[in-house]
Amino acid sequence: MSATLLDGKALGSKIENSLVERVAALKSKGVDPHLAVVLAGDDAASHVYVRNKQRACERCGIKSTRVDLPSEVSQEELMQVVSDLNADNSIHGILVQSPTPPSTDELSITEAIHPAKDVDGFHPMNLGRLVMGQSDGLLPCTPAGVMAMIENAGINLQGANAVVIGRSRIVGMPLALMLAQKGVDATVTIAHSRTKDAAEICRQADLVIAAIGKPTTVKADWIKPGATVIDVGINRVADESRESGSRLAGDVDPEAAEVAEYMTPVPGGVGPMTIAMLMSNTVQAAEMTLE
Ligand code: GUN
Repeated sequence: MSATLLDGKALGSKIENSLVERVAALKSKGVDPHLAVVLAGDDAASHVYVRNKQRACERCGIKSTRVDLPSEVSQEELMQVVSDLNADNSIHGILVQSPTPPSTDELSITEAIHPAKDVDGFHPMNLGRLVMGQSDGLLPCTPAGVMAMIENAGINLQGANAVVIGRSRIVGMPLALMLAQKGVDATVTIAHSRTKDAAEICRQADLVIAAIGKPTTVKADWIKPGATVIDVGINRVADESRESGSRLAGDVDPEAAEVAEYMTPVPGGVGPMTIAMLMSNTVQAAEMTLE
């Protein structure tokens, strides 16, 4: 039996389409939703991600402004850019693409973004609200996208054993909180690089979420038959059979689809959902200015 693939491209598209109406309603009230994306340095993958985010803004009717900074940008310069965007009333969302250059301190930049404009959901106030069980604020996009995919597939997590592999503040940690929150009610294990026998822990799980950042780490024999497998990994790997010489691979071996009941593809799974949730957060941030 092969798993049902959860199509993030289709669901992401549906979510983006649902935003078009909300954007029109905002515009009719004199609010033109506007996202500022700050990209410092020349990381190739970051450039692709930022371009994809700007394209999504166009699809939704959201205005986007890109601020490009050199890789040698100083902490002070980057902080000044954030401060100017905070003070600009025409900007509703601010995203500083991660990773920022080594000359900068990413955590303090995250903290400098006004929480009401924090469309990444990484500010301590927004993450803190999530810890307190308030899940109606600006939530981190990738975890929110994963939750939307699970809900859309009609998968009930009440009492389910969920394993999140990875403990990053961008994906693993907030996702673990969302899975454990009241109303979702999964029993969550966070596995990471120091975990003893992650394979055995995963074999007990009804839901395995891989957010490791290493290609094809999770193997088919880590998966319990009938489990749901969500692959957050986007890794570029060499592939001589392709004209480009490379392709994208997830953190999960595609063979796992022979064991799982539901699985997300890479590409076309979690990736497009992250972008759709960013659009959703930007519209929400713009709506919040009317409250
Ligand atoms: N880099 C990789 N993923 C993300 C994300 O969700 N937000 C930001 N700002 N940077 C990223």
